[in-house]
Amino acid sequence: MKEYYRQRASQYDRFYEVPERYHDLVGLKAWLVERVRGRTVLEVAAGTGYWTEVAATAAEAITATDYNHEPLSIAVDRRLGPHVTLLTADAYAMPKFACRFEVGMAHLWWSHVERQRRQEFLSHFASRLQPQATLLMIDQTYVGRKMLERRGRRAAQKSDHRHRRLLRACRARPRGRAAGQRG
Ligand SMILES: C[S@@+](CC[C@H](N)C(=O)[O-])C[C@H]1O[C@@H](n2cnc3c(N)ncnc32)[C@H](O)[C@@H]1O
Repeated sequence: MKEYYRQRASQYDRFYEVPERYHDLVGLKAWLVERVRGRTVLEVAAGTGYWTEVAATAAEAITATDYNHEPLSIAVDRRLGPHVTLLTADAYAMPKFACRFEVGMAHLWWSHVERQRRQEFLSHFASRLQPQATLLMIDQTYVGRKMLERRGRRAAQKSDHRHRRLLRACRARPRGRAAGQRG
C-alpha cells in the first residue's frame, strides 16, 4: 500500500474532481470547518492535504501526518499557513507531541485499517488526543445501482407527497383575495 500511494500521489486529487462528488464535498467541507473551528487538530494519513486545507481555514493549529513523503510534498504546495505542520509518520507509530490535540482527523483512512488492527490504531491515536477529544473521519461507502434506484424512487415519492399536500392546501384556501392583497 505504501508504494501504491507513493506512486499515485500526483494523481490522487482527481478523486475530488469527479462532478458527482461536488455536492457531497460542499456539505462535508462545511461540516468539517465547524468541528475544527478554533481547535488543535492531529490528522493521520493526510495524503495530499485536501482535508487539511479545508480544516486550516478554521483550526487553531494542525499537525498533519502521512507515512509517505510524496503526497505530503503536494500538501506543501497548498501553502497551508504557519499554523499547519506536515510530518512524515506512521499512523500506528506517531511521535510523542508536546501537547495532546483537541481533535483527531483521519479521512478516507478507516477502510485501510485491517480489522485486527483497529483497536491498536484507535488506542494509539487516542493516546495523542485529549481525553474528551473529537474524532472526525470522512469515508466512502459503495452505493450500488439498486440502492441508487431505491433512493431515487424514495426521493420522487417524497416530492410527490409534498406536491399533493400543497395542492390540498391550495384547494382548502378560500377563493377570492390572495393573502396580503389590499382591497
Ligand atoms: C486514501 S488516502 C487518504 C488521503 C487523505 N486523508 C484524503 O482523504 O484525501 C490514504 C493515505 O494513507 C496513507 N497511509 C497508508 N498507510 C499509512 C500508515 N500506516 N500510516 C500513515 N499513513 C498511511 C497513504 O500514504 C495515503 O496518503
